[in-house]
Amino acid sequence: MHAIILVGGRGTRLQPLTDSRPKPMLPIIDVPFLEHQLRHLKSHGVEAVTFACGFLPNQIVGYFGEGARVGMQLTYVVEPEPLDTAGAIAFAARTLDPQRLLVCNGDVLTDLDVGRLIAEHEARGAVATIALTPVEDPTRYGLVRTDERHAVLAFLEKPTLEEAGDDRYINAGTYVLEPEVIAMVPEGVRCNIEREIFPALVGKRLHAIGFDGYWNDIGTFPSYLAANVDMLQGVFGPGGHEGNRYIAPDAVVAADATVGWGAVIGPKAVVESGAHVVKSVVLEHARVGVGARLDGVIVGEHGVVEDGVEPEPGSVVSPGVVGELAGS
Ligand code: GDD
Ligand code: MG
Repeated sequence: MHAIILVGGRGTRLQPLTDSRPKPMLPIIDVPFLEHQLRHLKSHGVEAVTFACGFLPNQIVGYFGEGARVGMQLTYVVEPEPLDTAGAIAFAARTLDPQRLLVCNGDVLTDLDVGRLIAEHEARGAVATIALTPVEDPTRYGLVRTDERHAVLAFLEKPTLEEAGDDRYINAGTYVLEPEVIAMVPEGVRCNIEREIFPALVGKRLHAIGFDGYWNDIGTFPSYLAANVDMLQGVFGPGGHEGNRYIAPDAVVAADATVGWGAVIGPKAVVESGAHVVKSVVLEHARVGVGARLDGVIVGEHGVVEDGVEPEPGSVVSPGVVGELAGS
């Protein structure tokens, strides 16, 4: 099975972390998010991936190249301008022979059973099958209503709480699409799969299947932090890290500093004497000053927490910026 991964978004909700790095290249612990995603897809038999790129494509190409690192065959297309989700999928798909495709958003950390998704799609003879996951707050996502036979009755992108009612199953950002879906997308103009294509397919062999398991869209500060902490603990992934913390081999941590539960200290970061870091992500080249205390904080690349400072839990410290972990 060939997959298309959407990696062209601007990552607005993670700015300034995404000013210099595309969202899929932000690390989850020690490797870029995208490497976790590729390894997961490979474990379900996906051998080839085309990346639908837009913003800062060269970092993705530079890191993964033709795919030797992950043992997959990787290709890239770069939109001349953002074509939105359906436009980007079709732009990438049209570089391939017409075929059934797996399509993934490039920001979802999950252990979703992709093999089962493909099998259910096949068994139902669907034109498109959407994986669903339950969430507490559906307003951030695409709410999907289905009947008891898994046919989609409604697709509501970013619904209000009133529109969502008691429904909690949302589009998990993973689809199987037949070539007919690609043919619906106009060429060269913006087109959104969630607002235009899926609603148009309701009642026309559009199916959706619910999945249990780990699922986290890393696209906001709290969920990006949670992805790191979950993986450290082994809530997601191959198993917890020793002490539920991670310190990059080339980070420098003072002997009397504390790097505790849920802390990630990235490459070439410095944690000075007496500093205390728990449940926080300190990215590459950042510095945590003498006696500083971090709990529930993200420090961006080259960010500096000054000596003795204790940022509010939920802050993001980045060069020139101290913000809240805004967004839910
Ligand atoms: N190539 C390309 N071009 N990629 C794009 C573009 C574009 O113009 N616009 C967005 N993308 C990519 C993003 O990089 C991301 O991987 C994916 O499309 C989804 O965009 P997000 O901005 O992360 O969307 P969202 O999180 O608000 O909502 C989407 O994901 C939810 C699940 O996490 C929707 O698909 C929802 O329906 C879904 O529930
Ligand atoms: Mg997203």
